[in-house]
Amino acid sequence: MALNVAEKGFPISVYNRSYDKTEAAVKRAQKEGLGDKLRGFESVKDFVMSLQKPRRVIILVKAGAPVDQTIDALSEYMEPGDIIIDGGNEWYENTEKRVTKVAEKGLLYLGMGVSGGEEGARRGPSMMPGGSPEAYKHIQSIVEKVAAQVDDGPCVTYIGGGGAGNFVKMVHNGIEYGDMQLISEAYDVLRTLGGLDNEELAAVFTEWNQSELKSFLVEITSIIVNKKDDQAPGYLVDKIVDQTGSKGTGKWTVQQAAELAVAAPTMASALDARYLSALKPERVSASKVFTKCTQPGPVAGVDKAQLIADVRAALYASKVCSYAQGMNIIKAKSVEKKWNIDLGGLARIWKGGCIIRAQFLDRIRQAYARDPELPSLLVDPAFAEELQAAEASWRRVAALAITHGVPIPSMTSSLSYFDTYRREKLPANLVQAQRDFFGSHTYQRFDKEGWFHTVWDETFGSADSITTSGYVV
Ligand code: 6PG
Repeated sequence: MALNVAEKGFPISVYNRSYDKTEAAVKRAQKEGLGDKLRGFESVKDFVMSLQKPRRVIILVKAGAPVDQTIDALSEYMEPGDIIIDGGNEWYENTEKRVTKVAEKGLLYLGMGVSGGEEGARRGPSMMPGGSPEAYKHIQSIVEKVAAQVDDGPCVTYIGGGGAGNFVKMVHNGIEYGDMQLISEAYDVLRTLGGLDNEELAAVFTEWNQSELKSFLVEITSIIVNKKDDQAPGYLVDKIVDQTGSKGTGKWTVQQAAELAVAAPTMASALDARYLSALKPERVSASKVFTKCTQPGPVAGVDKAQLIADVRAALYASKVCSYAQGMNIIKAKSVEKKWNIDLGGLARIWKGGCIIRAQFLDRIRQAYARDPELPSLLVDPAFAEELQAAEASWRRVAALAITHGVPIPSMTSSLSYFDTYRREKLPANLVQAQRDFFGSHTYQRFDKEGWFHTVWDETFGSADSITTSGYVV
């Protein structure tokens, strides 16, 4: 990122606890003809003193304690009005505490989510700054040049106060988990049930990358599935152990969704899929227990072209549901914290630079431009039309996968989410009745105002009641 800043014409100082890393950055800058813009420092003091006032320092260290240690080291030399910007994947509440803490010294603070990986940082990431609006004014002209550029501007905007930037980046990552899981399910159905080989899969993902699914993750998937192993015959992806790791932002997103009472089944199932994948030895043992069950494999007589078209539609529709959930989490938090987040603006800055960048994000931007108060992306007229067009394919893929034992948890979670959301009447009446039966939790009626309680069974609680006698096996 330092090289990116230097390349945009801003002089920059760099510091790392390990001086060899600082030297490496300086050498790289020289190699790229940016030597006059980037200077390395051996001590925090010299680094801070080298900066123009108000000093603007971006820190990129591991979230948590290392951020606090870095702030302590910097603030020894920083002066009132100077600005600290944390560019890591930090928990939003930590940022809120730091905003208050550094304010005691007159310092300003921003928690800025940065997405795009190493290549994004160098060429243009998507940036989600939150915290002091005054501090943002001092970095705006820099980050607007450093960020990825799309047709309607740079992929950066002030998100909101406190930890808004980190919160939004966290949900970005939750959506990233959903996207990755959905793509892997599409790959599994095509490979396992459709019998497509790696070359065919690469061709499918390449074609999809020229469609409504055009996105960074679909693009890299087309490259990944076609990459030959350079150490043994075959494709590299087939040699990779099927256990997914995670660093925490996806888990936080699901936890926050639950805290806010916002349903996020696509992201939750993607997180669970990672946890289940991690149980490799258990899964290997379990696969030897259930030998009488359906074993997933190529489906006889499958129409490959139809299957590819169906999976494409199922993937797109599932993705719409996932983004609807993500946007609703952000909306709920924004209301709670009075962040006043512009959801359409957010979709715009995710159009470039970040891991979830996709053509489709412009459709989300348009949906919120049509109606900023949209209760859910699902009911935007354009998305509603597309979901209805995808429905038959989506159900065919779900039915095929379920029948043949291929788990597609995020596609089916999305479909159930859609079916639940669009259903006027749910079986929640029975749950309310059960709650009232055993806990006097009361219920409402269609035909009368107020809350009601019923004694459902006169014998309930007495000696001859089935519910108190227990069940003897
Ligand atoms: C990004 C990525 C990046 C990283 C996350 C997710 O936007 O550039 O989201 O932040 O890949 O740390 O990592 P895990 O999959 O390990 O949780």
